Amino acid sequence: RLLNLSPTMVEKQGFKHFMLKEIYEQPGVVRACLDAYFTETPNNESPINLSIPSEFYADLEQIQIVACGTSWHAALVGKYLLEQLAQIPTQVSYASEYRYAPAPLTANTLTIGVTQSGETADTLAALGMERERRQGREPKYQARLLGITNRPESTLGHSVPHIISTLAGIEIGVAATKTFIAQLMAFYALAIDLAYRRQSLPAEKIEDIINGLRQIPKEIEATLEKQEQLSETLAHDFADTQDVIFLGRGINFPIALEGALKLKEISYIHAEGYPAGEMKHGPIALLDAKVPVVSIAVPGEVYEKVISNSQEAKARDSRLIGVTPISDGEAGEIFNDLLPIANVDEILSPILTVVPLQLLAYHIAARRGLDVDQPRNLAKSVTVE
Ligand code: G6P
Repeated sequence: RLLNLSPTMVEKQGFKHFMLKEIYEQPGVVRACLDAYFTETPNNESPINLSIPSEFYADLEQIQIVACGTSWHAALVGKYLLEQLAQIPTQVSYASEYRYAPAPLTANTLTIGVTQSGETADTLAALGMERERRQGREPKYQARLLGITNRPESTLGHSVPHIISTLAGIEIGVAATKTFIAQLMAFYALAIDLAYRRQSLPAEKIEDIINGLRQIPKEIEATLEKQEQLSETLAHDFADTQDVIFLGRGINFPIALEGALKLKEISYIHAEGYPAGEMKHGPIALLDAKVPVVSIAVPGEVYEKVISNSQEAKARDSRLIGVTPISDGEAGEIFNDLLPIANVDEILSPILTVVPLQLLAYHIAARRGLDVDQPRNLAKSVTVE
């Protein structure tokens, strides 16, 4: 079969675009991160191996994360994990904003820069500014800079004292997919490591989360299998749609933002991600039968709230698409279409809920005949301000 493929097709391994290939590589990426970051719990030691010295963690009082684009969305999920699991107050800033208005410096702040390429100018500048203003202070000021990147050999790799490598392999599609999932895995590992060291969670809870993470690769595989046909069908119906709203709450609010960004980037359809509870404060005015709403509804803390926010959209005639493991009850009644995912613990769900949104964006763009891997006006990494 390979003999009939062009050289680029061989690189794409039979997939029509790199982006689709990279979406399908995600179960393997999660496996690689699990193998590298998670140890088979030795006694009295953290179940996480990030090769970061323990002095680095001592006395942390807050975390400041800087990032751009999709990496900023991963950071927002990271904030949720660091606050809910490790109980450390965490701020997330756009690097382009932070570099000109940094928060006051304190000794016990860890600053993290997230950039898959390790070359994004704004993120490097924000970290460079942090490095400079820490110089001449006690060593712990200087040590508390961490980079999360898919390219440890990049400029970022040489700019900070510690790195977590995200192990996604090279990503060619401009719209980030597998590198996002790998960034999420880095944040799960960091938050669990900190939770363990600070004893902010009982050992059994940590074990449950880790066991749940170990199931994720096969859950992504199952999701991919189910979604392909469904998202192609929706892509057919949405080929001429002009606006789409994505709703999520809690740990899935950043996934609503990411779903909207993917759609904007590659299909050029206007899309907005909103925390579902905020919709009534403005965006609900946009809704009518021409504006579909994609709702992420995962059982847990905010499930009922998301369902009732979705109901409000339905009452404005929007076609409602549910990313949810539930197909009966209220969910079965209100959603016009379902993009089903496995029923995992809410805290782990972003690694699954993002997958149908990536595929949906991909199929809409592909159906529109667009250059999915090289969208107009975008670059894989933005090395200018
Ligand atoms: C560009 C890309 C985005 C990416 C952002 C941040 O704008 O088009 O897809 O999320 O840069 O890239 P980074 O390499 O810093 O994660």
